[in-house]
This record gives sequence, structure tokens and C-alpha cells, in this order.
Amino acid sequence: MSCPLLFMPFGPFRKAFSFGPGIKSESSVAKAKTVLDIQQMKAQGEKISVLTAYDYTFARLMDQAGIDIILVGDSVGSVVAGYETTLPVTMDEMVYHTRAVVRGTRTAFIVSDMPFLSYQIDLRDARLNAGRLVKEGGAQAVKLEGGENVAATIAAIVAMDIPVMGHIGLTPQSIHRMGGYKVQGRQEEQARQLLADAKAVEAAGAFAMVLEGIPAELAKQITAEVGIPTIGIGAGVHCDGQVLVIHDMLGLFDKYSPKFVKRFADISTPVSQGIEDYIREVKDGVFPGPEHSF
Ligand code: KIV
Repeated sequence: MSCPLLFMPFGPFRKAFSFGPGIKSESSVAKAKTVLDIQQMKAQGEKISVLTAYDYTFARLMDQAGIDIILVGDSVGSVVAGYETTLPVTMDEMVYHTRAVVRGTRTAFIVSDMPFLSYQIDLRDARLNAGRLVKEGGAQAVKLEGGENVAATIAAIVAMDIPVMGHIGLTPQSIHRMGGYKVQGRQEEQARQLLADAKAVEAAGAFAMVLEGIPAELAKQITAEVGIPTIGIGAGVHCDGQVLVIHDMLGLFDKYSPKFVKRFADISTPVSQGIEDYIREVKDGVFPGPEHSF
């Protein structure tokens, strides 16, 4: 005979959190942060906290902790799928991960990354794919990489009433042009171009922009000269907010260890320990004990 009570911890909980694939529940939508809240934070001098998430469980944890924005980053390709770059990530994968994150989120504002080749070819593709992340994924905004070169694309998506977050500086989808993950904007000409990029992203209608891998002084100047929030990663303390990849800041991903990452916890050690304990107890016939048996 089946015993529904066994599943009580998950049943009611899931009900409270989900409202079909990729859609926040009615009550959660009412409490969710909006693009206006995010922009107001810059005006009020309140720093904006952003973390990446790719699944329901992490999204739920960070939402409960009070994160302002969850970014479903295409960094999923590196830290979840194990690719060398973010380039292979597909639209279908982004929709899938966005849905999972949305189901675990009640209040955070959710931004979903447009993967490589989903917006570079033409405006029709870009609009369709941005629309998929909102319609199928349940995201409230999309993010795409580039400055002056993508201004028309940002404007086209914003014209569909989809908020866009820009992303300039070290843009991982441009790894082959940059010749590696290198700090951008150290030379004067590069810095001038990045300032022009930031202004173009704002003028195109973006509601915020990520500044990645640029000198702190340049990020300070951009933050002062644009009216929309800047979210830094490897861009110093003067940005209006900060973003980190969750696997990096929890010590779960040690393939690269960039200078800008601070490990706020090291959970890889207890995770490995738990797995080793489990293997030993299975081998020794210690687990499951009578308390885990029926
Ligand atoms: O994909 C990602 O996680 C990102 C952040 C690092 C900004 O774009």
C-alpha cells in the first residue's frame, strides 16, 4: 500500500512554490522583486546582490536567504555541464535551467542568459529567443553580452517589453577574440571603448549591466556616468551590485580560481566526506540501519 504521508515534506512545499512549468505562483508573483525595485536600489544607494543558479534547490536556498537577483548564467556550461567555455550552451538548455530556478524562487528577480548564437545572427532570432526565456522559462529579464555592437539588439528586445541586462568587459562568449579570460580595459583606448559601450547599452534601454573583469577605477567611472545599476564581477567595489557564480563562491568548482572570487564557504570538503562515508557504510553493510528500514 502506498503511503502519501511519507512524501509530506515535498508535497505541500512544491505546491507553494510552483504554478506549472516555469511560472511563479500567484502569491509569489505578488511578492517578487521587479525591475523597478532593482533600479530604485541604485537611486537609494542600496547595493544589489546577485548570484547565479541553475537548479531548483540552489535557487530556493538563495531566495530564502534574500538574494535580490538570480542570474541563470550560461556559466551553467562550465560549472554544471563541464564544457571548457560557455559557447556550446543551447537555448533549450537555458530554458530548462531557467524553469527549474523559477520554480524554486518566490521573491528574487530572475534574469536568464541568452547563450551564444541566440542573438548574434539577426534581430528576429534575438527577439524570438528572448521571448522563449520569458514565455517558456519564466524569466523576468534576459542578459546578453556586448556593447555598441549589440545596442540595436538590446533595443529590439526592450521594444517587446522584455527587460534586458547588458554585459560588457570580459565577455566569456568572446573568448576567442580576447584570447583567453583576460582583464579588459587596461589600455586607454580599450577603456574609452568600454565607456562608450556602457553608454550605448544604457541608451538602448537596458535596465542594468554586468561589468566583468575590468579595472576598479574604470568600473567606478562607468558606474558614475550611467544611470542604470552596474553589477560587478572582478570589477571592484564601486559597482552598484556584485555577482558571483555560486559554484565558485561555495568552493564547489576549482578548475579555475580567479582572483576576484572570494570563497564564502567551502562545501566541497563536507560533500566529498559525506560521499566517502556513504560508500564505506554501503560496503560495510552498515547502511541502511534498522531506523532506515521498513
Ligand atoms: O554566465 C554567468 O554566470 C555570467 C556571470 C558571471 C555574470 O554571465
